[in-house]
Amino acid sequence: MPDTLKLSELIGSLSYALDLTEGQPVGHCVRSCWIGVHIGRHLGLADDALWELYYAILLKDLGCSSNAARISELYLADDRLFKQDFKLVGDSLPQMLGFLFSHTGRHAGWADRLRSILNVLRNGKKMADELIHTRCHRGADIARQLRFNENVARGIQSLDEHWDGSGRPLGAAGDAIPLNARIALLSQVIDVFHVTGGREAAVAETQRRAGGWFDPALVRTFAEGPARDEAFWRTLESDDIDAAVFALEPACHHMTVDEDYLDDIAEGFGLVVDSKSPFTAGHSQRVAHYADAIARDMGLDDSRRRWLRRGALLHDVGKLGVSNTILDKPGKLDPEEWVAVQRHAVHTREILSRIGLFHELADVSAAHHERLDGKGYPLGLSAPDIALETRIITTADIFDAINAERPYHPETPVPETLDIMRKNVGSAIDPDCLAALEGVLRREGLLD
Ligand SMILES: [Fe+2]
Ligand SMILES: [Fe+2]
Repeated sequence: MPDTLKLSELIGSLSYALDLTEGQPVGHCVRSCWIGVHIGRHLGLADDALWELYYAILLKDLGCSSNAARISELYLADDRLFKQDFKLVGDSLPQMLGFLFSHTGRHAGWADRLRSILNVLRNGKKMADELIHTRCHRGADIARQLRFNENVARGIQSLDEHWDGSGRPLGAAGDAIPLNARIALLSQVIDVFHVTGGREAAVAETQRRAGGWFDPALVRTFAEGPARDEAFWRTLESDDIDAAVFALEPACHHMTVDEDYLDDIAEGFGLVVDSKSPFTAGHSQRVAHYADAIARDMGLDDSRRRWLRRGALLHDVGKLGVSNTILDKPGKLDPEEWVAVQRHAVHTREILSRIGLFHELADVSAAHHERLDGKGYPLGLSAPDIALETRIITTADIFDAINAERPYHPETPVPETLDIMRKNVGSAIDPDCLAALEGVLRREGLLD
């Protein structure tokens, strides 16, 4: 089934989640990819190099770098405790990511692999600290876990370097900056100025920054090539840009999107979601773990469980569109903020349903805040319309939301968490799912 899914469609669709994180107009990564690949073609790059450029640009915001920086600024300004913990940060992130995505035992069951890392994930805040500290490398690391090569990873890692050496994190200059990063930077600025000011504004901006931010040779290539091509601009401005970009993927590489790869991609984007806020570090992984364990106890077959696990990993992908000032707010949310939080479920549906094969998964996953009594969001569905698989994700999600530390409450012991959940059985929580969860927790030694 999954081999009918094109990698370009999958990654291109998920890049919409990255647009949300960066606060860019919808479709920014896809349009930047269109621009960059056309620059690459005018440079005469071979298909292999164009393919790497294609994914380096689509995934350029995988590290959510400016977002992470904003989190740290906001949080450091607001909370001294966080600041103290921040000093404890080590450099073990790459090791942990490597472990998370270790290819060994891939066929030997997700639950076993995940259980062993659950303790690490439980220490969520420290992990988030590390994520912030290593934000320049995070996107590149996740790209590697998504099986992209070094030319793609380094393109992402060096996205914020500038031709004149004024960029970050290394202050690299000139040819020392990977070509994919130079083209990606130029392309993203062209898109931003084109969206806000039109064609001339975009071209003028490239010229203004030539030799500063941008490689002057690339600016010339753009001016003499794509910028003079009416068809280039027309497609960029059309509603068909998605299809055009999916079709633009150079055909030299055939990376089959099989079940294993789909799992890796869901894990990678789950990590992007979890690293948005210090309080959600590890959340998607834990929800996926518990949802899978509950599903097993409830007798779902292996392939359905695997499918569901992806839905659990991605259930909060829409949170990338919610500001951290709201997600990390320690106090009560005002009505407007509450509406913004609820919108994450809508974003999850929008992002996942862009992928043809994910339509059912989008519905199941995006309904995780619906309640059996009809008082949930975003649609206010009631029991008969809420699928078993959704109820499983909801149970795992509520457990982790109460059990783990949040801005508005400390960590809650497991027995107390279950007491709170029992009060919501029938109204929000399915009794069979909760019973299965209790069995899981007992087996894992978290409950007597
Ligand atoms: Fe949620
Ligand atoms: Fe959640």
